[in-house]
Amino acid sequence: MSSTTDQLPEARAQRFFVKAFETAPRWVASAPGRVNLIGEHTDYNDGFVLPMATEQRTAIAASLTNDRTATLHSVTTGDTATFSLEGEVRRGTPAWSNYVRGIVAGFKELKLPVKGFNAVIDSDVPLGGGLSSSAALEIATATLLEAMAGRKLDPTTKALLCQQAERQFAGVPCGIMDQLVSVMGRKDHLLLIDCRDRTGKFVPFTDRSLSLLIINTNVRHALVDGEYARRRAQCETAAEMLGVTALRDATPAMLETARAKMDPLIFRRARHVITENNRTLEAARRIPAGDWEHIGRLMYESHASLRDDYHVSCTELDLVVQQAEQIGVAGGVFGCRMTGAGFGGCTVALVQAEKARRIGEIIGEAYLAKTSNYASIFLSRPGAGASLVDFSKPNI
Ligand code: GLA
Repeated sequence: MSSTTDQLPEARAQRFFVKAFETAPRWVASAPGRVNLIGEHTDYNDGFVLPMATEQRTAIAASLTNDRTATLHSVTTGDTATFSLEGEVRRGTPAWSNYVRGIVAGFKELKLPVKGFNAVIDSDVPLGGGLSSSAALEIATATLLEAMAGRKLDPTTKALLCQQAERQFAGVPCGIMDQLVSVMGRKDHLLLIDCRDRTGKFVPFTDRSLSLLIINTNVRHALVDGEYARRRAQCETAAEMLGVTALRDATPAMLETARAKMDPLIFRRARHVITENNRTLEAARRIPAGDWEHIGRLMYESHASLRDDYHVSCTELDLVVQQAEQIGVAGGVFGCRMTGAGFGGCTVALVQAEKARRIGEIIGEAYLAKTSNYASIFLSRPGAGASLVDFSKPNI
């Protein structure tokens, strides 16, 4: 489950760069994916989220060229993108290059210089698996372009620039969680983000007897993006009906009072967001005391709410959560829930570290027996945020 150093994406991207361009790269920038412990579909409601950066990362090895072109190889997909840096940067192919194009466009909009460059990208964040491989690529690219421009953006500006790239170049009206934690993530810490003012508070997660077990169902149901946009719109309708700026400002009592005049579906959407915000704050409060059983219960409640009120789970995710629940605290599982936008992708389980591998095997076998699909299993502790190595500077 863990890589040796020369198998890390940073080292692989660097090696591949030498092969592809017959010279050493000047920089290697990298950024993590994210796993959200709790606080799902709350970020675009100005609410609270409690994610961490994964140990899995996306790396870009790069050097400047003398022309006005970006040439990018992806080790993961095996294809190449080339586009001009002159004039307006537009969407293009391959699809993954749009994340890079979007960041370049964002830098140009800020009037920051973007020079020609060659790059090689590699990643061990599963693609399209709900661990925000897209934010990892965006933030790694932004970190590289900062170095190339000789200017460092503040973390929030950088996250917002990347969020805008995702919205305009990938067409996903995402919130700010993934990009913020990919920039700011810190080893051994979760990040409690207030998505209204976009401030983060680090919550130490240092208990070595615990692990986060990430189970990728390896299914991604169609319409994820359309359904995501629809949920956002439904939340806005609910906020309007409740007379608040965003659902973050609504309380369970306000919702109950308005129930009779609300469409039942809109009511459920609002109930998920309002209760999820409370669960997230409660989980963050209980982490310092190590109240894992309680936090685990909040995770199961979060999953039930996403399944029954928000309707973003699916059979495969529910199956994994059920298996985890069956193993229970006695078997080393405190809690489990879907993580990310939903409709497939990953679950996250809070487990006893010494039992984590066995738990993964049991769930993986049951999942295979019931769906004929293989699940991919990862262990991750909270990893570091974006980073950069500049080979032109002496190592100190
Ligand atoms: C996706 C989005 C995030 C967030 C989650 C759901 O990952 O990119 O902004 O809305 O879904 O919590």
